Amino acid sequence: MMLRAMMAAVALSAAAAPAMAADPAAGEKAFAVCKACHRVGEGAKNGVGPMLNGVVGRQAGAVEGYNYSDAMKESGITWDEANLAEYIKAPKTKVPGNKMVFAGVKDDAKIADIIAYLDQFNADGTKK
Ligand code: HEC
Repeated sequence: MMLRAMMAAVALSAAAAPAMAADPAAGEKAFAVCKACHRVGEGAKNGVGPMLNGVVGRQAGAVEGYNYSDAMKESGITWDEANLAEYIKAPKTKVPGNKMVFAGVKDDAKIADIIAYLDQFNADGTKK
């Protein structure tokens, strides 16, 4: 009886885990792999990739002065959370022909954390 109750509690907490809020602080750490090519925050500039201030909710291929691929410019994507998650997971599948040379992040929780981190920044790089 006792054991059964414990098992039920374990199953419950495991089921609850995916519903936990994404963690922007963890996302900042996970963003380290993106930093080779992307910057965010005040004064962020375009590098190998476009700067990502205000990326959550904006049109793909819209940062001024950045030389996007035609594939990205013509993708017609708006970077809502669902589209961002798919792109970060599998960039080549989400936008075939785009020029982000990155295999993708496989861990969904990490992806959600990265998006939560990016979502903190306004288009001018200040924090919301
Ligand atoms: C090796 C360099 C590189 C790495 C690492 C990289 N990116 Fe990129 N990223 C790019 C390039 C280059 C583009 C522009 C793609 C194009 O124009 O086809 C891009 C585009 C993007 C865009 C679209 C931006 C826009 O303005 O439409 C997002 C979002 C993005 N990257 C997120 C990420 C995230 C998050 C990570 C880390 C998990 C990451 N990238 C890692 C090079 C990189």
